Amino acid sequence: MNILAIETSCDETAAAVVKDGREILSTVISSSQELHTKTGGIIPENAARQQVNSIIPVIQKALTGAFGKDAKENIDALAVTYGPGLIGSLLVGVETAKTLSYLWEKPLIPVNHLVSHIYANWLLKGKNPAFPALALVVSGGHTDLVFMKDHGDIKWIGGTRDDAAGEAFDKTARVLGLPYPGGPAISEKAKEFRSQNQSEKLDMFPRPLLNSKDFDFSFSGLKTSVLNRVKKEKLSQEKVEKYAAEIEEAIADVLVSKTLKAVEKFKPKSLLISGGVSANRRLRKMFESETGKQKLKVDLFIPPAELCTDNAAMIGTTAFYNKKEVDWKDLSANPALRIQDKNV
Ligand code: KG4
Ligand code: ZN
Repeated sequence: MNILAIETSCDETAAAVVKDGREILSTVISSSQELHTKTGGIIPENAARQQVNSIIPVIQKALTGAFGKDAKENIDALAVTYGPGLIGSLLVGVETAKTLSYLWEKPLIPVNHLVSHIYANWLLKGKNPAFPALALVVSGGHTDLVFMKDHGDIKWIGGTRDDAAGEAFDKTARVLGLPYPGGPAISEKAKEFRSQNQSEKLDMFPRPLLNSKDFDFSFSGLKTSVLNRVKKEKLSQEKVEKYAAEIEEAIADVLVSKTLKAVEKFKPKSLLISGGVSANRRLRKMFESETGKQKLKVDLFIPPAELCTDNAAMIGTTAFYNKKEVDWKDLSANPALRIQDKNV
């Protein structure tokens, strides 16, 4: 089954053709990130305008990339992100997918963007994750821990009480004078620091809720903490690198230790890490070494970096495993959709 998948929830316009939920026949991503670096963050109106410009060429490229010219004959269904995200951006993908579904008379499968991040782990070569699975989703706007008994059976067990992990990277990067998106920028500076200070203990910033009994996170205090420190002193290149490493360590520390506490409690067969922040080198390393160290009987899955950040292949694979078709007339974008909401 070949699914043409469309993703436009934020500042990426993406389309992909995915075969049987596992094989990426083509994947195309056009990002308006450069535009947002200029404004120091996303202005939703700008992102939506770029979506309009990019959507048709991106879909065309994905189709020809997969099959050549007579592509639509080879497509069995359409999939599209319908939330959460920026309403102007979401609408572009949703309305395009509805139009194609009507014109081509093909089934339309709506996909929850947050759930789809988890499904990037079904695109890894080799084995599929086994159920039950525990999944951490760490993206720009969301931080959620969920327990999955099966496809479509998702129970929310914890999440952030304030800022998302990605938001914490983006906001603290700003305080340090680093460009948007903050995650990769902080990661680069942190790498510089770590290459010269391998043994230094990194515990300058607080780890809120680290020992709480629930599976909640809180990242809003980190920005204030960084701000207070930066206010007191002149920022040199060395200090930016040191603080970047401290920020990265604080965020990774909380994410890893609370996720592993949930593994101990729920005893899943698979641990699935996903979302833009899981592209972070330090976080990946920490998950790998800690799951090994604690001898937890859990299979760890983390997608390659290009499948952690927004893409349409993950939308196609989610649609394959959760085939909840809707009539095109019944689909609307839902910017406030949550990971635990019923539809996929
Ligand atoms: O999942 P995603 O691509 O888009 C959303 O659905 O939000 O996540 C974007 C977030 C941004 O906050 C960005 O700073 C963060 O992921 N990010 C990273 C890295 N790459 C992207 N954070 C830390 N380290 C990275 N290497
Ligand atoms: Zn995302």
